[in-house]
Amino acid sequence: MKISVIGAGNVGATCAHILASKGFAQEVVLVDILEGIPQGKGLDMWEAAPVAGSDTFVSGSNDYAPTAGSDIVVITAGLARKPGMTREDLLAKNTEIVKDVTSNVAKHSPNSILIIISNPLDTMTYVAYKVSGFPHQRVMGMAGILDTARYRSFIAMELKMSVEDISAVVLGGHGDTMVPFPRLTTVGGVPLTDLLPKERIDAIVERTRKGGIEIVNFLKTGSAYYAPAAAAAQMCESIALNKRRVLPCACWLTGEYGLRDLFMGVPAVLGTKGVEKVLEINFSPEEKEAFMKSSEAIRKTMNEAKL
Ligand code: LAC
Repeated sequence: MKISVIGAGNVGATCAHILASKGFAQEVVLVDILEGIPQGKGLDMWEAAPVAGSDTFVSGSNDYAPTAGSDIVVITAGLARKPGMTREDLLAKNTEIVKDVTSNVAKHSPNSILIIISNPLDTMTYVAYKVSGFPHQRVMGMAGILDTARYRSFIAMELKMSVEDISAVVLGGHGDTMVPFPRLTTVGGVPLTDLLPKERIDAIVERTRKGGIEIVNFLKTGSAYYAPAAAAAQMCESIALNKRRVLPCACWLTGEYGLRDLFMGVPAVLGTKGVEKVLEINFSPEEKEAFMKSSEAIRKTMNEAKL
């Protein structure tokens, strides 16, 4: 198992470090255009291996040759948000970056599975899909795990109960229209709706939707990276070990939920072939309305990308 991570900034480097510590890949290659940065960070991570007890070999490069034959490529390249910016504000610049990165990745690793983290997430995943020409099962975006992790954290905080026992799903686009599902959220099997009044749940849903900008407003110079990187590493693990975990990811829809030809957050089975199955939920009328509204927001951004 060889995994390449494109972009050695905060998200890419953190993701490579998590992958290296977990040890399920033989090799992790970190790529960035900044001279010396991927090499230095990669070497530093590899030197952490004796302490972490991992045999994953990590290296860094400014070109794509060392990534050749990767099984999974995580694309984090692109600009991050600053305070006052929406993810959509990054569209023009990141479309160019993701196009360039994807064509290099596809050339060197034609059989790889692509996991996109660059924003606006759903549309950047679409860019990578178009440019790579890969089957849709091998292209996916990381957002749902992150959004669900934020939602679960806020619930754990509110209830003062272990986050481990909170089972939940956040679907739709990775933006203000994302759709957390309180009806499907349980705490050790007990429905969340039995544990918290509606207004507390609504507040948690709202904080989840704004979870990205909450971090941007603290950091000022960029966006979140620990949670996004951990989420991408979890996707890599399910694929690499063929765990077939059911994880919310941005997947290409081919008629599921009555939608097609867009990437959107849905529950997906991740295994060695990539997205092996998209699971469908029977929505309530309100859930369906929120999900459809989110799909419209994604389509709008997709059209603006003018591919
Ligand atoms: C966030 C950015 C990475 O949600 O989209 O934090």
